[in-house]
Amino acid sequence: MKEYSLEEKARLLSGRDFWNTAKLCGADRIRFSDGPSGLRMQGKKGDHLGINGSMPATCFPAHSALAASWNRELVYKVGESIGKEAAFYGVDVLLAPDLNVKSYPLNGRNFEYFSEDPYLNGKMGSAYLNGVQSTGVGGCVKHFAANNREYGRMVCDSVVDERTLREIYLTAFEMAVKDAKPAAVMTAYNRLNGVYCNESVWLLNDILRGEWGFDGIVVSDWGGTHDRAASVIAGADLEMPCCYFSKDEITEAVKSGRLKEEEVDKCVGRIVKLSHRDKPPRADISGHKDFAPECAAECAVLLKNEGLLPLKQDMKVALVGGFAKKPVIQGGGSSRVNPKAAVSLKSCLKGAKYACGGAKAVRLAKKSDAVIYCMGYRGEDAEGADRDSYSLPEKQIKLLEKLRAVNKNIVVVLFCGCAVETSWDEKIPALLYAGLGGQASGRAVADILFGKVNPSGKLAETFFKSFKCEKQDPYSAVYCNGLMVGYRNGEEAKYPFGFGLSYTEFVYSNLRVNEKGASFDVKNVGGVSGGEAVQLYIRYPKNANAPDIQLKGFDKVFLNAGESKKVFIPFDEYSFRSFEAKEGKWVEASGSYEILIGASSADIRLCGVLERKGDCDGVSAPDTLCLIPESYPILRDKKGKVIATAETPFCELKNAKGVWGKIFVWLVLAVVRKKRTIYGTMEYLPLRTLAQYGGFDSSILKGITEIFNGKLFRGLKTIISKNKKDK
Ligand code: BGC
Repeated sequence: MKEYSLEEKARLLSGRDFWNTAKLCGADRIRFSDGPSGLRMQGKKGDHLGINGSMPATCFPAHSALAASWNRELVYKVGESIGKEAAFYGVDVLLAPDLNVKSYPLNGRNFEYFSEDPYLNGKMGSAYLNGVQSTGVGGCVKHFAANNREYGRMVCDSVVDERTLREIYLTAFEMAVKDAKPAAVMTAYNRLNGVYCNESVWLLNDILRGEWGFDGIVVSDWGGTHDRAASVIAGADLEMPCCYFSKDEITEAVKSGRLKEEEVDKCVGRIVKLSHRDKPPRADISGHKDFAPECAAECAVLLKNEGLLPLKQDMKVALVGGFAKKPVIQGGGSSRVNPKAAVSLKSCLKGAKYACGGAKAVRLAKKSDAVIYCMGYRGEDAEGADRDSYSLPEKQIKLLEKLRAVNKNIVVVLFCGCAVETSWDEKIPALLYAGLGGQASGRAVADILFGKVNPSGKLAETFFKSFKCEKQDPYSAVYCNGLMVGYRNGEEAKYPFGFGLSYTEFVYSNLRVNEKGASFDVKNVGGVSGGEAVQLYIRYPKNANAPDIQLKGFDKVFLNAGESKKVFIPFDEYSFRSFEAKEGKWVEASGSYEILIGASSADIRLCGVLERKGDCDGVSAPDTLCLIPESYPILRDKKGKVIATAETPFCELKNAKGVWGKIFVWLVLAVVRKKRTIYGTMEYLPLRTLAQYGGFDSSILKGITEIFNGKLFRGLKTIISKNKKDK
């Protein structure tokens, strides 16, 4: 440490470029690359929205699909495979898994998250992370924390009471940190109860490092730094991507006494330590393409089947919909992988006749025995913007009605990474939710439709009957639902959490519950072998003020026809705990806990009771009434005009003094209007971040703000004099 000057230390605390840290004597370069559904390894032209190209990589199912497998071993293997590909390309840290809870059904990035349930989220996250890190590549859990929607993501204040935060939004991170020890944690863009996550001493120092014992590095989300000195104090070690003003901010803060050099040293120490990790060995990655179909098949969920499936080989089948030919296998944004090969459903169903839509599709449906109609989203599952509605495009539903008028044997295959309204399925006999299954999803769907594979996926999120889309405030999201997230909120589900059909049937019996866990028998009583995701829910005693039931364990069992197996699901430190916000600690309410074994959250098959002597008589309900958002600092002059600063969100410039802001905003938004991810990201992007993405330094940022404040010549002078100095 003594050999580094303050400037050198400051240099280490910010990226050297878009993906790498600086290489200094004693500190090796650390290379980051995106996951989570595959490796997004970019060359010189880096970006955080999946705009520029990346090296070909295996595209595995999105997290949303993987969670539907309820299979930890499978998820481990996916993590391991992606880790091996990362090692192959010399990546040190993979930016995955993504552990945010799906509490807002319209979040554009829900496809990138595992579940609405914190326990499932945490178990899947740990399995994935252990898989990645078994290869020697580090994992980076993200986005810490309460980053549950995309709209205004860089300025939004998530306002959450502490019980809800701990039990719903932090639990998965806690589980992953404790069970899998990630090399890094990425802070979320948003504010949490008024403080940017990247600057929160409470979140990073007290909880993450203090309570959970995290000893890796904390890295900002790309462009998610605001006050660099404050973030160093909080223990946010690294600012990414490269930032030309971070160095000055750190050195100035130390010189002015605002920041102690020891704080800087702590961050430097952690980065240097990570940079010294052994380089992972290159492994053979040629088999991944064969593994991809197996994954996709386990992730698909059969939601409805009134005897139509599996289809018979000799049936005359009409294949309808553009998704069959041009498959949607993943979502958009920073997770976008350049797939090695993407198999379409059409290419796997050689015997079927295909029509994209229109009258040709109806004619074809009329003369066929059955219709496979592919519906879904193209573009809505994307980073940067939320969905406008919970429904599928009207056009697709209209075509479904026309097809049904001529053929009753319709199976809809749904390609999207999120729950949607499905009232249209009442008139059809079969519905298969393929999700975003990665490059081999076409193969997997074909195998399921024709019975080569027995579906065994179950929903990792509730499909509500409907969801009303209310206008959001870009600057705040008040979590007034408290603990009532997903299936916990008691709203009527169309397809409940944990639900999924099979071509066989399973019977549950012989429940035995003791202090260690629950054991029971599961028997496959149908005619074909299959997999069953068995779920353990706990109903807490009333005095715990908890949601009705909560998932606290699960397993996936594979059984041949007629076979039976004993399953044991152990309790763990998460089984009976509640967070008492008044005392700021985890407690256990004394009372009777009902242990429920189910095939889904709405299909409980066995029930037992466990009396527990906890450490308190009851737990306070979440205090959601006191949630008040912090306003966002937008400065205005006496006339109400916006005074541009580094923190001014881009779209607010249209109200700045002078015309330049208006012109700039109008021009940029007009150009990117049709590009969901870029438009959504740009809208509320603080100027500091905009400058950072553009590769500008602090004087250029200063010049730009002067121009937006109506001082064109002064601004130009600042920029030109800086350029001259550089030359
Ligand atoms: C995303 C992160 C991603 C980073 C780098 C950000 O926009 O939120 O998840 O890892 O970009 O691409």
